[in-house]
Amino acid sequence: MSTIRFDGKIAIVTGAGGGLGKAYAKLLASRGAKVLVNDLGGDFTGQGSNPGYAEAAAADIRAAGGIAEANGDSVADTKGATAIVQQALDRWGGVDILVNNAGVVTSNGSLSDVTDESYAIDLGVAAGGTFRMMRAVWRHMMDKNYGRIVNVSSGSFFGMGSAVPYPAAKGAVIGMTRGAAVATDFLQRNIKLNVIMPISWSRMTALMGPEIESAMQRDFPPERVAPVVAWLAHEDVPCNGEIFTAGGGRFARVFIGVTEGYRGTTKDISVEDVRDHFEDAMRIEPFTIPKHALEEAGMHESSVDWSTFFQFIA
Ligand code: NAI
Repeated sequence: MSTIRFDGKIAIVTGAGGGLGKAYAKLLASRGAKVLVNDLGGDFTGQGSNPGYAEAAAADIRAAGGIAEANGDSVADTKGATAIVQQALDRWGGVDILVNNAGVVTSNGSLSDVTDESYAIDLGVAAGGTFRMMRAVWRHMMDKNYGRIVNVSSGSFFGMGSAVPYPAAKGAVIGMTRGAAVATDFLQRNIKLNVIMPISWSRMTALMGPEIESAMQRDFPPERVAPVVAWLAHEDVPCNGEIFTAGGGRFARVFIGVTEGYRGTTKDISVEDVRDHFEDAMRIEPFTIPKHALEEAGMHESSVDWSTFFQFIA
């Protein structure tokens, strides 16, 4: 069995000063990648900054024989995202791998108590940061016709306690990954973007309380997520636009599918038809996993030629 390596590859891992990001950066570097370790170095609610956080992680990697540099810019603003990508270009001449791991949780209370500020921070780092980093690296990857991007979502997308902004941010990450992956497929570029929903002990999981935290620490170390991220960042990864959950030694595909549903005998369905055939819409077999929005639109019988819409992708 051949060993999976990243020799010659240049990777940026955001939010890699500690937690999951550091585990991703360490694994990639241990297998030959040059890694730019980015981290703003604030707390898990997004407050503060400390360049020493990324520097310490990069130093750990170098001490273990890897190649790493630190960056303390923020992914949440365009200037920071541009500077992160520019540092990798200046230092090593390219970017092959981008892991958009930086994230914060600010608002966990009732929806009615969420402030505009905490909503903006949650979305600004996870969704805004992922978007800004993808945009900053895009021209370079398109010109080179190579790139592997791993974006970090969360199982909270399924709903989590009373939190709303955090799942919203992590849902946006799925949407932007799918959008860009459909574009690279259509344009036949060797750029693959996939999503990870990690489950791991980290300083963020302190939010769950001491009992869960000690069990998480034992069963879900970050090192049990990192191999899945590494494979999604590898040249040979076979998929684009997919979502995977990973943690505790298990990984699995997560997908968004559409049921066959109910087709009215006449197309003019009434509210009563919707009530009376609701079970048909809810039944999950058979289902389709659409490759893109036009395939989903095509599941409705019509005379529209949806394929002509692809001319809008550039
Ligand atoms: P963490 O708090 O240790 O890691 C997040 C890192 O992002 C921190 O080091 C932080 O300084 C950095 N960061 C925050 N804002 C930044 C910015 N503007 N620019 C650059 N860096 C910034 O927590 P953890 O758990 O390791 O989280 C890593 C990622 O995984 C996050 O996106 C998180 O939302 C996600 N996640 C974690 C789960 C878990 O079970 N630990 C579950 C689902 C998702």
